[in-house]
Amino acid sequence: MPELKPKPVRASLTQISDLTSPVNANINGSVFGGVILAIVDKAAAVCAMRHAEKPCVTVAMERVEFLVPIYIGDYIIAEAHINFAGKSSMEVGVEVYAENLSSGTRRHTNSCLVTMVAVGPDGRPTAIPPLSIETPEEKTRFEEARARHQNRRAQKIKPHEA
Ligand SMILES: CC(C)(COP(=O)(O)OP(=O)(O)OC[C@H]1O[C@@H](n2cnc3c(N)ncnc32)[C@H](O)[C@@H]1OP(=O)(O)O)[C@@H](O)C(=O)NCCC(=O)NCCS
Repeated sequence: MPELKPKPVRASLTQISDLTSPVNANINGSVFGGVILAIVDKAAAVCAMRHAEKPCVTVAMERVEFLVPIYIGDYIIAEAHINFAGKSSMEVGVEVYAENLSSGTRRHTNSCLVTMVAVGPDGRPTAIPPLSIETPEEKTRFEEARARHQNRRAQKIKPHEA
């Protein structure tokens, strides 16, 4: 099979956004964590599919920490970038911000790591382009994510009998 051409991080940078409304509220009146995770998942999926140019599925979400609440009426912005690309998997870093549209202030609310895997028509992992690194920041992120990738492989959980 021919080698896939490396692609830069900038080719798959993704930003998605949504306006929160009362239907997204938890009992405290702020936004449900699950609503935020759905936006994180979508941003990571678009970013991964832009890089892979193939369908991708989510296999893991890590560092799911809600640092400050997002309030109803805030504008949620999720920014995603590829940290690392392996043979079929990608670690996607997603930063979430909440913007108050009246004051214009923006708060950082979450940072998540999402592992996405490109799959073929059989639903099995398939090859993706390597990542070409262009900046020192991308290099640092790549090295750190590669180490996490190796750890995840070593600690992989297998499905058990249901
Ligand atoms: C994605 C899936 C096909 C991978 O199958 P698998 O048998 O685990 O595949 P492999 O062991 O060959 O691993 C494939 C890649 O995924 C990575 N991977 C697998 N499980 C992982 C996990 N739990 N966390 C992080 N990475 C993982 C491997 O490191 C490998 O990366 P590489 O190819 O870049 O080296 C399978 O786990 C699956 O179908 N999961 C369900 C996905 C889903 O339904 N998501 C929700 C809706 S999108």
